Amino acid sequence: MERVLLFGGSGILGTEVLRMLQNEKIDYVAPRSSDLDIRSKNQVTDFARDFKPTWIINCAAWTNVDGAEDSFNEACELNEVAVENIAFAAKGIECKIVHVSTDYVFDGESETPYIEDSMVNPINRYGESKLRGEKSLMAAYPGSFVVRTSWLYGVNGKNFVKTIVGKALRDEPARVVDDQVGSPTSAKDLAAGIISIIRIQPAPGIYNFSNEGSCSWFELAIAIYESVGADPQLVEAIDSNSLNLKAKRPKFSLLNKDKWKVAQLSPVPEWRSSLESVLPEIVTELKQLGEV
Ligand SMILES: NC(=O)c1ccc[n+]([C@@H]2O[C@H](COP(=O)([O-])OP(=O)(O)OC[C@H]3O[C@@H](n4cnc5c(N)ncnc54)[C@H](OP(=O)(O)O)[C@@H]3O)[C@@H](O)[C@H]2O)c1
Repeated sequence: MERVLLFGGSGILGTEVLRMLQNEKIDYVAPRSSDLDIRSKNQVTDFARDFKPTWIINCAAWTNVDGAEDSFNEACELNEVAVENIAFAAKGIECKIVHVSTDYVFDGESETPYIEDSMVNPINRYGESKLRGEKSLMAAYPGSFVVRTSWLYGVNGKNFVKTIVGKALRDEPARVVDDQVGSPTSAKDLAAGIISIIRIQPAPGIYNFSNEGSCSWFELAIAIYESVGADPQLVEAIDSNSLNLKAKRPKFSLLNKDKWKVAQLSPVPEWRSSLESVLPEIVTELKQLGEV
């Protein structure tokens, strides 16, 4: 019988993982950050020793990409040190780990989708902190799983898709970059993927997962406006430089999912079909929040 300790259960991805654990009737516990701070080695070790999970799923992270430029140490506390704490705790009780990482470990200069062994070279400090976490985990506990994903969105938490749905439903204009290409990832699909790792237990290591297909952020915004019946002419294409963001973003983020498919993990739906299936729930959520 699997027993899962979930960190980050209140985030975009974590809420969907939590929902899947409930649906699959997997025994789990998901302490809130106010109850368990994963930056504390003692707290993580004590909790894990008491609960005795067979798996730890880590969806907790510092995800403020621009904020990491000025607060690199704080970002590393969560994206590197906390991951080391989790590895230490898991090793002590021989439990397995699924840790989530990012396409931002790559520099975006490739012209073909990144495979798991592609050369890493982060171009911002968030990416650097996440890469440090991956490396620390694999060095400390090589039997672990790292799932790299990109452009994550979901019903919960602040994310691009939700922001654009709000603008579309309010008939507001949106200025969106068209010089970054990647693949959106539905948190529901990735959550199903993480559960499939637990069920199937493929060879440990790094796996890529995003939805299938590719688009720019601009094309994604257009698809959202069209899907909710708003006027796509309200979406204006701009280039990344005009946003003056603190952190540089990779211009190409596509991840190759062949390793995932060969391991016969969960299905990899096309991004448009996943978007269509999640949009009604996002609209309902925005209505409940009073934002539309
Ligand atoms: N968002 C994206 O576009 C994207 C893209 C690629 C990869 N990823 C990766 O995907 C994973 C999930 O990201 P997400 O967007 O779902 O994250 P998120 O929505 O920002 O959620 C972060 C989670 O971390 C928890 N957390 C923060 N500090 C903590 C602490 N000290 N102790 C314990 N928990 C703490 C938060 O809890 P509280 O709510 O209590 O603060 C929250 O549940 C991350 O590894 C991220 O790097 C994200």
